[in-house]
This record gives sequence, C-alpha cells and structure tokens, in this order.
Amino acid sequence: MTEFVTITIGRPARKAPGVAVIFCGPDLQMGRQARALDVGATVQRAATAAGFKGEPRSTLNLIAPAGTELDRLLVVGVGKAADLERRDWLNLGGIVAAALDKAPSAIVHLERPDGRKLAAEAAADFALGMRLRSYRFDDFKTGPGEEDKRGKPTAVHIDVADVAKVRKAWGAAAAVGDGVQLARDVVNLPANVLGPVEFAAEARKLEKLGVKVEIMTEPQLKKLGMRALLGVAQGSARPPRLAVMRWQGAAAKQAPVAFVGKGVVFDSGGISLKPGGGMQDMKGDMAGAAAVLGVMKALAGRKAKANVVGVIGLVENMPDGLAQRPGDIVTAMTGRTIEIINTDAEGRLVLADAIAYTEERFKPRLIVDLATLTGSVIMALGHHYAGLFANDDKLARALTAAGEATGERVWRLPLDKAYDKQIDSKFANVKNAGGRDAGAITAAQFLQRFVGDTPWAHLDIAGTGFGSPQTDTNRSWASGYGVMLLDRLVADGHEKRKRG
Ligand code: BES
Ligand code: MN
Ligand code: ZN
Repeated sequence: MTEFVTITIGRPARKAPGVAVIFCGPDLQMGRQARALDVGATVQRAATAAGFKGEPRSTLNLIAPAGTELDRLLVVGVGKAADLERRDWLNLGGIVAAALDKAPSAIVHLERPDGRKLAAEAAADFALGMRLRSYRFDDFKTGPGEEDKRGKPTAVHIDVADVAKVRKAWGAAAAVGDGVQLARDVVNLPANVLGPVEFAAEARKLEKLGVKVEIMTEPQLKKLGMRALLGVAQGSARPPRLAVMRWQGAAAKQAPVAFVGKGVVFDSGGISLKPGGGMQDMKGDMAGAAAVLGVMKALAGRKAKANVVGVIGLVENMPDGLAQRPGDIVTAMTGRTIEIINTDAEGRLVLADAIAYTEERFKPRLIVDLATLTGSVIMALGHHYAGLFANDDKLARALTAAGEATGERVWRLPLDKAYDKQIDSKFANVKNAGGRDAGAITAAQFLQRFVGDTPWAHLDIAGTGFGSPQTDTNRSWASGYGVMLLDRLVADGHEKRKRG
C-alpha cells in the first residue's frame, strides 16, 4: 500500500512554493486566509473564462498565478456554505487529493468561505478524505517503470485557525484512516498470500496497540464444537483460525459491543463449485472480517472509551477429496444440526459458530456481523447500500444514522418468520440454502437461528466491500467499507462523552 499524500496540520516552517488550495462559495466568496493570498482578481478572471461558479465538487486549476511564487493555485468550489456537513468535508478532501496530482508539496488553506468557524472534526475529516483517496494498492507492481509510477507523496500542510484542536481531532481521524487502509489492504491481497493463518497474524499485530488477541486453532475449534465452521474449512489444505480481538477502553464490568466478521479468504464454492468467470473476486470474501480488523485498529488507535470485541472466522472454501458434500449434516456449536444443500452457502456456516461463540462468551450489549454473504443483496441494492437486517429497531436506527454520517450507507430489509419455510430441512434442524427467492433474506433468517436474545444486526456487504463504485474517497477495488460505519456507531452510541 502507498498513500500519495503525507499530512501535517499547520503551516510549513519555511514558505515553500508549490500548490495552494483555497475554497470558494457562490459568487466566489472566500474566507480570510484565501483573501490574504491576494489572488482575487486572478481568480475572478479565470473563473469567468472557465465558467467556474464555486459549485460543489468543481475545481479551478490556475498554473503559476501572476504576482505569486506559487506553481499552482487550486480553487475548490464548496457550494452554499450553509449546507456543508462533516461528510462533505471528507469528500472535499478526496477531491483535493486527486486534483493535487503529482505536486511535490501543497498548502491547503482550510476554512469555510462564509467566514464561520470550521469544526475541528470537519477539518480532520477533510484530511482523512485526502488520505483515503490517495490509497494505492501497488505491492505487486514491481520492476522497472512500474516503481516510477508511484512517485513521491505530496507533502501537504493544512493551514487552520485552531491548530491545537484540529491536531487532536486529526489524531483520532488518522486512526480511523489507518483502520480503513488496513481493511483495504487485506481485501486486496490475493489468497495465496493471505490465508487464514496470515490473516490471523494481521490480527495479532494489533497487540502493539493494546488490543488483547487470541488465535484459536483447529483442536480448540473442535473442542468448542464449531463443526459448521470446520466443515467449510475441511476441503482446504490450509487450516482455519478464529481470531478474537478485545479492546478495553471502559470499565471492565461494562458489557462490550461485539463485531463478528466472515473471513473466507477464498470462496471457490467448494464441491458446489462456482463458475469460472469472475471467481478471482472471491479473494475478497473476507471483507467482513477485514472491516472488523480495521475497526479494532481504529478504536485502539484512537483509544476509544468503550469496550469492544471483534471475532472473525477465517477459512478457505475449496473442493477436495475431503471437502464437505451437499447432503452432509453438521452440528453447530449451539447444538443445532444443519443440512448442507449447497457448499457455496458457506459464509453463514462460518458466522453461525462465530456469532454463537461471541454471544455465549462475552454476553455483549449488541452484536453486528458483517459478511459478503449473498449475490442476492447485489441484485436488491447494487453497490451503494449494504443490506441491513436486525432483530432490534434501535440498533437498526443507530446503524442507519452512522451510515448517513459516514457515507457508508445501509438499507434495512426484513426478517420474517414467513421466510423460514425456505430453510426448513427434511433431515436436520435447518438447511443452509433457501432457493433463489429472497436469497439475502433467507441467509439472514438462517443466521438469526444462531442468535439468542442479544440485539443483533447483520450487514450483507457483498455489494459494498469490493468492486463498488469509485467515489471521492475511494479508487481502490477494496473499499474498506464498514470501518468508518462501525467506528461511528461506537463513537455516537457507546463512548463516554469526551469533554471539550
Ligand atoms: N461469497 C458469496 C457471495 C458473494 C457473491 C459475495 C458475489 C460477493 C460477490 C457467498 O458465499 C455465496 O456464494 N453465496 C451464494 C449463496 C447461495 C449458494 C445460496 C449466492 O449468493 O449465490
Ligand atoms: Mn459461497
Ligand atoms: Zn462466500
């Protein structure tokens, strides 16, 4: 991974010429810092010539503006200042990062054009947007020519009114950025490089940040009775793992928030083998686990005042002489029996045991699981919203609000007993596939059978975890979806309010 910006809050020690970035509202309204540059007339002329009106997301690029030492002046439209929310600043950061192109250095005069104060969190989100946009997965682009394309990152200074406050807010936002970029990295990595063992090693690295990490191996998983998870793994030459990550940022007695992730490092479909076209995308079938890993890194990095556990089930789904067959019946950790109809419906088998384990051991205040679970959710929602299923309206509302705030949006779909018939089995307590109709819902309905009374939500991120639309803050195949969403869920609902 490379980021093509490095960010410092505050002006540079020496005034280095390079790119200056300023913000404009309608009628070319500018803030105090921008006016001090004394480029009003130049901007006015160029804006008229280019038809630039300060519309949101529009930019005006002036090469070596007269009367300055600047190489370039980048004017960024923000639209009506009254409408500006935190999320808009996140996106503006992305737009600016892209427009800087390969400039060696830049100074961003970060302020609202209407002269009102810019909140420190909004300023930090701008910087976060810059970093997220500048992510590049180039680990395997080796050799002459390829290396040169990386270039040197742009050294960006962000000039703000209240440096101390913004530095503090940036400390937290940068930790969230670290979490998102980590999630993207593990999703982008090919399965030959990142198997269950290697993914578990990534979880282990969080110990440096104060996260307690336990990695369970096959004998332990057998002892726990996780036969649903183990059945998926049994066709792979590479053994499964269950990683448990715990962040204790609040009083020890406080019940934790729990996040559970599907970590299928590669999903071939198993004996119910997938068709060949596009199968390479199934290296990303651990995007749910990646989001959980990423948010644990974010929460620990910003020392969140909350107790949070992250549990991820790590397996590879492969066809083999020893692989699980359609018709097999396995007993999950809860004691429920599952008839395997389709070995390609493997994610729910992994989650059934991971969720049950999490609920039984930690008695959490809530559980959110994330999984690239069904093609069906892509049919329903495409790539812009994750599917949300919940047994608790308050949790559903909190996730919806966190989604709107971060841009990682969710849309609620129903859980209903009416769908149960589709997953009732002739031979066992439940079957793992419910036919073509409402596939995302029957998958969620299956998971619900392994959850007790705990408030629980399931996010089907098959459409949003990878291969999702390119946005102002993401140009990578792996989006890192879920890290900002879950971080915000914790920040807004489960942390002791910070003073000041
Ligand atoms: N990992 C896939 C779902 C998926 C598909 C994720 C496309 C991302 C992009 C999952 O394990 C799967 O194969 N689901 C099947 C379930 C079916 C066999 C009941 C599906 O959705 O077709
Ligand atoms: Mn599958
Ligand atoms: Zn899968």
